[in-house]
Amino acid sequence: MSKNYKRTLVTCALPYANGPVHIGHLAGVYVPADIYVRYLRMRGEDVLYVCGSDEHGVPITIKARAQGVSPQDIVDRYHRIIKDSFSGLGINFDIYSRTTSDVHERNASEFFRKLYTEGKFITKESEQYYDPEAKTFLADRYIVGTCPKCGAEGAYGDQCEKCGSTLSPEELIDPKSKLSGAVPVKKKTTHWYLPLDRYEKWLSEWILDGHKEWRSNVYGQCKSWIDGGLQPRAVSRDLDWGVPVPVEGAEGKVLYVWFDAPIGYISNTQELLPQSWEKWWKSEDTRLVHFIGKDNIVFHCIVFPSMLKAYGDGYILPDNVPANEFLNLEGDKISTSRNWAVWAHEYLEDFPGKADVMRYVLTANAPETKDNDFSWKDFQTRNNSELVAIFGNFVNRAIVLTHKYFEGVVPAAGELEDIDRETLAQILPLRKSLEDNISQFHFREALKDAMGIARVGNKYISDAEPWKVAKTDMARCATILNVSLQICADLAIAFEPFTPFAAEKLRKMLGVSLCAGTDHRKGEQETVNTYREGEGSALHTVPASCCGEAAAKCPDCSCGDSSVCLEWDNLGAESLLPAGHRLGEAELLFAKIEDEAIAAQLDRLARIKAEREAAEAAAAAEEAAKRIEPQKDPVSFDDFGRMDIRTATVLEAERVPKTDKLLKLTIDTGIDQRTIVSGIAEYYSPEEMVGKQICILANLEPRKIRGIESKGMILMAKQGDGKMRFITPAEALVNGAVIG
Ligand code: MF3
Ligand code: ZN
Repeated sequence: MSKNYKRTLVTCALPYANGPVHIGHLAGVYVPADIYVRYLRMRGEDVLYVCGSDEHGVPITIKARAQGVSPQDIVDRYHRIIKDSFSGLGINFDIYSRTTSDVHERNASEFFRKLYTEGKFITKESEQYYDPEAKTFLADRYIVGTCPKCGAEGAYGDQCEKCGSTLSPEELIDPKSKLSGAVPVKKKTTHWYLPLDRYEKWLSEWILDGHKEWRSNVYGQCKSWIDGGLQPRAVSRDLDWGVPVPVEGAEGKVLYVWFDAPIGYISNTQELLPQSWEKWWKSEDTRLVHFIGKDNIVFHCIVFPSMLKAYGDGYILPDNVPANEFLNLEGDKISTSRNWAVWAHEYLEDFPGKADVMRYVLTANAPETKDNDFSWKDFQTRNNSELVAIFGNFVNRAIVLTHKYFEGVVPAAGELEDIDRETLAQILPLRKSLEDNISQFHFREALKDAMGIARVGNKYISDAEPWKVAKTDMARCATILNVSLQICADLAIAFEPFTPFAAEKLRKMLGVSLCAGTDHRKGEQETVNTYREGEGSALHTVPASCCGEAAAKCPDCSCGDSSVCLEWDNLGAESLLPAGHRLGEAELLFAKIEDEAIAAQLDRLARIKAEREAAEAAAAAEEAAKRIEPQKDPVSFDDFGRMDIRTATVLEAERVPKTDKLLKLTIDTGIDQRTIVSGIAEYYSPEEMVGKQICILANLEPRKIRGIESKGMILMAKQGDGKMRFITPAEALVNGAVIG
């Protein structure tokens, strides 16, 4: 943030519309971005906040095929779900559009055409897998086969989900087309490539020399890509879902999803601000910040900037790319395909009115420098012992007591005592630390600072005990509550970026509104707008007109004071709430989360895990069953001839007591009736064996098993997974018929 700038454009990675968003997405990208945007807006900065669904790419076509619907159906469904989840969480983009929009199709197409016309691409012919039955090229994901690394079946052409290896389709053993099951053949195809090697030097100067302040995970990835030598990257694909390549002779080819999606940031800005979008993308006064997850780093730091550089025309580059690491869930990697996730839309249904709790917990555990874990127990603890017990408890005591002793009107403070001064003196340093942390994208630490203010307040009111003081010294009680209420107002400011719904509720309790601000959601005119109920408080202050606006929106209050303004700069100010100001009703800011609610979530996860483990065990057994024993060493005909194998019938069967595996069988061998002890109880019950004709090795030397003399052995066939079946002649024969 070294340069001077006039406005900030914040983008969030466009989520794939092939599934709902989960807490990993929220923690990694959307919650931190939202905190940042709300904070800048509170500071009166001009911010544009852009996102949308990423609706192209192979996974969407696979999902559509699996469900027997069109890709459009899939993206329509998930676009809606994702969009609603964001607004339910108070993540209010200025625009949330989609890469299937007309504006985007035109824009992405034009972008390609310009680069194409100016010779910025190279073409390459390569051999790619083709499905001769379905008559189509196969994306890597559409080829399945045996993993060369771990032997698992069903590995994809780009990755084995079993062992996690990255693969290329050529490596798969026994490759098959997922479309038709046909064996794919190699076929020549031509694609356009962006020659990243040409941008290597420029990238190195721009990032490695010029952005040493980027997060070390981001800088490190860029460095290793650049040091490793950049290769041309294909920007087109043989696929029937995407933006068609706008060049003659490119039938059946579309733009690669990672080419079109980042252009979506630009398209969505254009859609929102058709007249003035360029100032957000082509002005040196604009600061561009991309919020992404770590798997997106190369695309946002290397590929997209190279595209913009190739395009020219004054496009700005990101000033920072704060990428997060990954969030795990209860110690396991979050995975959409394994259904191991907490889905945003389900959370909002299961915990109505608790969007803030999730925002809070995900920020407190944000995977900023390393992967981190979400657990439901921790979620409950953070709610109950931090939000409820500290923040909520403090605010509640201050406001309820003001209603009790002073009819809900802020009492005037008398002379301050040491404890008051010492308490208030802690606020500004916390504010300063919070600001530094946010501006360095250290949101976890920033949240600790905000919570620090609540801790200060909570300790103060506990130590000062206004409820006791009230019995003897109402003037002193007034001072304590006045100080407490100032801290409540500070909290309403400090928590607006983190827990906007609670901040809104708190403002209501304090009888104040958020000041007016610039709202780009309104469209072209960038009108100064008033805070709108029920939309989460994405609005911000305009410093010049701020305080006057605020007073106008203090309808319940007769104090007539126009200085109640909860803009950021007033955090820690003296007498933020003037004496005489009327508070709103007291409400509970946060409610306790009971064990049952947590148990229900843990049960759900346990069920999912059990189902997965059962499915994995079944698949493993199926694999094992196919394992064939190698052939044994040769035996002579004479050796074989010495074995007396013949038919027999089971007359009686019973379990051998105190064993799991053994049955004691009485059999008719044609020669005699005898006893054989056999280890088949796992596979056959005694009842099942009675009356069955079997084959036995009759002249096996007798052995004592568990004190029972066993004369002979039942012939069994055994699979690789251990499953056994007895051998029976194809048609019933007399007992004692010789086999050989
Ligand atoms: N859809 C991608 C993902 O979820 C992100 C796309 S970001 C964009 O990983 F820049 F391409 F838009
Ligand atoms: Zn594998």
